Formats: sequence, structure tokens, C-alpha cells
Amino acid sequence: MLNCQKSLFQLDPEVAYLNNAYRGPMLKTSEEAAISDLRKMRNPFSMVAEDFFTTVNSVKKLFSEMVGAKDHEIALIPSTSYGFACALSNWNHAKGKKAITVRDEFPSGYFSLKRWAEENGSELQIVDPNPDTESLGQGWNQRLLESIDKETGVVLISSVHWMNGVKFDLKAIGERCEEVGACFIVDGTQSVGALPMDVKEYKIDALICASYKWLLGPYSLAVSYFSDKFDEGKPLEESWMNRTNSHIFSELTNYQEEFLPGANRFNVGETSYFILLPMLEKSLEQLMVWKPEKIQEYAKSLRSQLISFQEERGLSLDLSEFSANHLFALPLPEGTDPKQVRSSLENEKVYVSVRGTSLRVSINVFNDQSDIERLKTALS
Ligand SMILES: Cc1ncc(COP(=O)(O)O)c(C=O)c1O
Repeated sequence: MLNCQKSLFQLDPEVAYLNNAYRGPMLKTSEEAAISDLRKMRNPFSMVAEDFFTTVNSVKKLFSEMVGAKDHEIALIPSTSYGFACALSNWNHAKGKKAITVRDEFPSGYFSLKRWAEENGSELQIVDPNPDTESLGQGWNQRLLESIDKETGVVLISSVHWMNGVKFDLKAIGERCEEVGACFIVDGTQSVGALPMDVKEYKIDALICASYKWLLGPYSLAVSYFSDKFDEGKPLEESWMNRTNSHIFSELTNYQEEFLPGANRFNVGETSYFILLPMLEKSLEQLMVWKPEKIQEYAKSLRSQLISFQEERGLSLDLSEFSANHLFALPLPEGTDPKQVRSSLENEKVYVSVRGTSLRVSINVFNDQSDIERLKTALS
């Protein structure tokens, strides 16, 4: 199993940061890469055309390896909402068919799908969890699968629910979507990097991930995968960088209509993201060394230290196969105000989030047993 990797970050040593789902901390190597790239701006004459594309290509390669895709199927975008817009604006042959998501989906996904449903004369169906099943995730997955039928045009969900860590069974859902001809769009922001992802195995049509959480990247940068269903798609904007002649700066007005292959047409303008992209390159390199399955195993070992703590207080912890180890809800005693609990925890320099009536705890490789002990002590 991995050892604690705190030494690779500059986290305040006084703090127990159990809130990667809010924002991942920056690796030391990412900080150095950003500063080094920033310094290059002092002397722009030293930058050559290739510099506009080298890190872009490297990040695409790293991300494609992480999610089981090919480099040309990856696009760099500024946010998840941008990625959903690219996919949904190109899914226009399912008019009148249902759009499906789950209760309390993250607003970027919810609003994007709502707009698609309105523009396509479709019903937006929100699938609720089943209160009668013991495991929240098991009943919810079952209901979601049952709701997908021949009248379904799009399913848009997060791989892991951002509020409670429920894991959606992407393989089963992807297969069902393929069977009925629905487009399957996944928001991977709260899992990719910390949980294995395979876009081909799960038959995902578009995977969209903000980079500032489990990819340990900077804000304002997201990474996306588009299947070949979008190969002829219309991008939201007309960036010169996505054209076949973009690397020949002296010939840009020899206008080339043709796009670079695959998902490249969806890259946002000014794709080079100087300063930001080298940060993501470093974090992706590091994540590929740690490996998502090992991060999951590491998070599991720390989460399991909360099982008896919760049991002693007569409280549950969802340990089913449909619950993620790196992000989970920690139910509180009835009548407790979660916001008050969070603020008491912050007085002890223990950081978690509140989502609904539970605390949302998230664990990554910079956490260790002492963070969990501090959480328990502060909660007690
Ligand atoms: C599941 C999920 N998706 C997306 C985002 C961020 O979305 P955007 O990139 O549109 O700001 C978050 C942020 O908390 C999230 O939890």
C-alpha cells in the first residue's frame, strides 16, 4: 500500500485537511512548474511555436492513459459546464426523448441537461434514491437503471455523487445507454484521479472533469473525453488552434477549414494555458505513479478507522460497494446542526464540508491516521 505522501505538498502542518472534494492542494512540483513557466513570460522572444502545443499534447497523453482513451479523443476546456455544452449542443437527434439525471446532481450538469431538455422538447427526469433499501447506492443505482428505456435520449450523471460519495455503476449504466441508443455523459470531477476510470469499458460518450479536485490541478482548467460520436461535432467557438495548420504560424491565413482529429475541435481557444497547464502536467504524472486504485486503497484504510467510531455513537457509515472511499458522508447525531459542527471543527483546524445534513469527508494520499484521529477527537 502507498505511504502517506504529505511531504510532496506544502499543506499547513497544523491543519487536518479532509476536504480534497472541495479543492485539491497543490503539489510542490506543480508550484515549481507554474513559477518556471511564469518566469518565461519575462522574455517572450524565447518562446517558439512548438511551446504552444508541447504541454497540451503531454497533458492529453497523460489524461488519455488515465481514462483508457486515445490522445486525440481528449480536449482541454475551462470548466465542466463548457464540456457539457460541447456534448449536448451536438446531441440533437433525440428530440422528444427523456433526459435523465439523479437527485441533487451538481448544478453545472443539472442546468446543462435542463437546457437540453427544454430545447429538445424533452422531459427532464430526476431519479431519486430508494429510501427502502439498506444501501443508499444500491437502491439508487437500481432505480437509475430501471429508468433508462427506449424513450431515453441522454443520461448525465457524476461518476461519484458530489454530496455523499455514492458510486454509480458506470459499466451497467453505459451498457444500458448503448442498448437504448442514449448518449451517456459523465461528470468525473469527483472521482477521476482517485478512482479508476475506463471510458471504453463503461461505454461513456463524454467524460468531463474539472481539474482542481482529484486531478490536483489548477482552477479554470478542465479535461474532457469525447467518443467518436462527436467526431463531426460543431465546437462552441472557432479557435484557430484546432485547425490542421495551427502549428505553422506564418501560414495561418491560409485558412484551413479542417479540424485536427477527434475531440481536438472542442479545445477552448488559447488552449496552451501557460502557467496552468504545466501544473496539471506535473499532477497527472504524479497520479500515474501513485495510481488511482492505490489511492482508493489508501483512502479505504483511513476511512475504515471511522467505522467503530460511528458505531459507538449509534451512527452509520455506508460501506457498500456503491460507496467511494475517498469521498463519503459522515452522518451526525439527530438534531445536530452540521454547519455548527463544521465551524467547531474549523476551530480545531480540521477541514471538511457540509453537504445536506451530513458532513462530507474526503481523503487523499496527503492525509494520515493523525488527521482521522483529530477528526474523531474534534467530533467527540
Ligand atoms: C461534481 C462536480 N462537478 C463539477 C464541479 C465544478 O464545475 P465547474 O467546472 O462547472 O465550475 C464540481 C465542484 O464542486 C463538482 O463537485
